[in-house]
Amino acid sequence: MFEKIAVVGAGTMGHGIAEVAALNGYVVFLCDISEEILREAIKKIEWSLRKMVEKGKLGNEELTLTLNRIRTTTSLEEAAKDSKLIIEAVPENLELKKGIFSRLDGMTHPETILGTNTSSLPISEIASVTSRPDKVIGIHFFNPPVIMPLVEIVCGDKTSKQTVDSVLTFIKTLGKQFIICRKDVPGFVVNRILEALIQEAAWIVHRGEASMLEVDSAVKYRAKLPMGLFELSDYVGIDVLYSAGKAIQDRDGGVIVSPLFEEYYENGWYGKKSGKGFYTYTGDLWEKPKIPPELADKVNLEEIFAPAVNAAAWLLRNNVVDKEELDKAVILGLNFPEGILQMADKWGIDTLVQVLKIKRSKYGEYYKPDQLLEEMVANNRLGVKTRRGFYEYV
Ligand code: CAA
Repeated sequence: MFEKIAVVGAGTMGHGIAEVAALNGYVVFLCDISEEILREAIKKIEWSLRKMVEKGKLGNEELTLTLNRIRTTTSLEEAAKDSKLIIEAVPENLELKKGIFSRLDGMTHPETILGTNTSSLPISEIASVTSRPDKVIGIHFFNPPVIMPLVEIVCGDKTSKQTVDSVLTFIKTLGKQFIICRKDVPGFVVNRILEALIQEAAWIVHRGEASMLEVDSAVKYRAKLPMGLFELSDYVGIDVLYSAGKAIQDRDGGVIVSPLFEEYYENGWYGKKSGKGFYTYTGDLWEKPKIPPELADKVNLEEIFAPAVNAAAWLLRNNVVDKEELDKAVILGLNFPEGILQMADKWGIDTLVQVLKIKRSKYGEYYKPDQLLEEMVANNRLGVKTRRGFYEYV
């Protein structure tokens, strides 16, 4: 298929995508604006590959071969030349992305597929500056790309079936699984749910309803997510989540970014990468914040998760994804222990609707329960307790 691919942007996601592709035999041209950023990216890739060698998942020889398959360059032309697939992973700034796509459109073979790893910006908006919107597609990896099994494929209004098929074949050669986000909605599937969840956690802390450690402890030890939500925000980057949240908020109000996120973003407290986020870090890449398990009972999980379930219901009702793919998305893209719809069925749809109604009466229309949830309650589809919810139970 593609012998050589290019990754534009060597930050958190770009370097990880280049690593995955090189591990699977592709020659990768990794491009960014400065030699220093590229050196940092290679250092991180090497660190990650050494970790795999330490764990016995990779041999020393494979490590060397993988590194040799990655070429770095500050020239977009050099990266793009002869690449039949380009994956852009620059910061979440629409104008920046449009500028790059417009240049790539002018300098690549007309058959070259232009992918974007954007976490939330509509693909059609990015594709609009090119003469080949049929070959522009969202190829959304999850952090860290080398570990997370999912890639979310997002079609713009004009993305062709041929482009989708070629990218799916490529994704399979990386050993990854995929879901297809059928409509080009801001935030796509995973980030629409994740943003609703993370922003609600931040609203709860902002409103003084629970502390950050109480929320993270409940999420990690009771809901059994792999990380607390503030821990995850620091890991992914508060700047990344802030921009993704804003992209959704500004387009259709699918989330409202909390003042807490605004404050951390404005102050440059981006998380692990800047040494300070919701937790503080010494610079050790393996460092994890301490979250006390004894605080896990201080806040109800339904309070934290109800807006995310509402976002999931919105996605289903708008035919963006079906229920099995939606649950697969959070299990493989966020390492949830089970699907969010399965969790909702256990908590009870009526309970979640009640939580949303109370929040709506206090804090406004953002919390209006989705019509799908209201219909489920009216039809006694309350989840496990009535043996019918999003799923059927015998
Ligand atoms: N490179 C190589 N190996 C790595 C690694 C890396 N970058 N990161 C972790 N690992 C390996 C570790 O060596 C370890 O290997 P073993 O199982 O062989 O011991 C394994 O992965 C697990 O790592 P840890 O034991 O250190 O830590 P963990 O169990 O907490 O797992 C994690 C780490 C996989 C990141 C886990 O905490 C997790 O799943 N967190 C949630 C991540 C998530 O939700 N990502 C998506 C965020 S949203 C996004 O990215 C999209 C967006 O657009 C914003």
